[in-house]
Amino acid sequence: MQVNPMSSAGGAIIEGIDLSEPIPENIQSDLMAAFIKYSVLVIKKQNISEEDQFRFCEIMGGLGVRGKPLGMRENDLDSEYEGAIHLVTNLTEDGKALGSFGDGEVWFHHDGIFKEIPDAATVLYALAVTSTGGETVFANMYKAYEKLDPELKCKIASLNGLNVYDYGSRGRVDLNQDYSKLNQCVHPLIIRHPKTKKRALYVNPLMTARIVGLSERESDELLELLFQYKDDAELLFQHKWEVGDVVIMDNQSLTHARNDFPAGEPRMLRRTLVKGVPINR
Ligand SMILES: [Fe+2]
Repeated sequence: MQVNPMSSAGGAIIEGIDLSEPIPENIQSDLMAAFIKYSVLVIKKQNISEEDQFRFCEIMGGLGVRGKPLGMRENDLDSEYEGAIHLVTNLTEDGKALGSFGDGEVWFHHDGIFKEIPDAATVLYALAVTSTGGETVFANMYKAYEKLDPELKCKIASLNGLNVYDYGSRGRVDLNQDYSKLNQCVHPLIIRHPKTKKRALYVNPLMTARIVGLSERESDELLELLFQYKDDAELLFQHKWEVGDVVIMDNQSLTHARNDFPAGEPRMLRRTLVKGVPINR
């Protein structure tokens, strides 16, 4: 197995493994070590079944299931696999969406930050990709934390954020409406990564709606400062998708976003989750 770093902000391309075959134990630990070091692994030219993708999740920490309630899910795959599979796609069947996050840009976010125990990682397998655009952009949240002004680090050290997500929403939830039924969870603004024990900033513009205990105005001002990572080229790297790519991304040391792409071009990623552990400060 070869590991080739993608950028100074993180990510690595893995060559020499075939995820459609059982992975020997020594390679499993090499994969885990590379994942902990680089936060994103891109494994090219794969041809894997649902079961192969589950097996990969198992060796990377255990298969997780999505938070979206059964009645709200888009397709039959979800019931067949009890929520372990989710299609990220703009494709439709008989006029009905086959999956979610259909078209367009998606703001930076951590998958699962609105859950009590967020998913440790997300695995995506590319089945259809667009001719241009649609790249996944990653932001290194260890570096985002390290780069904060020392005074600001101190100020937010004991603060928590309320993370709210409205399925299908393209922007931050407005807390001036009744949001009691939306998925939500309070987590620290700075977390300690369960594996590396390093601190990482844990806020994102799509889902972190309010800093707990601050007025709306104070919270918005502070969040604006903390969201600056999204424009900091030193922290960012991206993946341009090709069919057959398998990508695993860490949901505690990274946020990710999606670039816009041409409407009408089919795009489909098969998504599974690696289960997480409770968040610690
Ligand atoms: Fe995501």
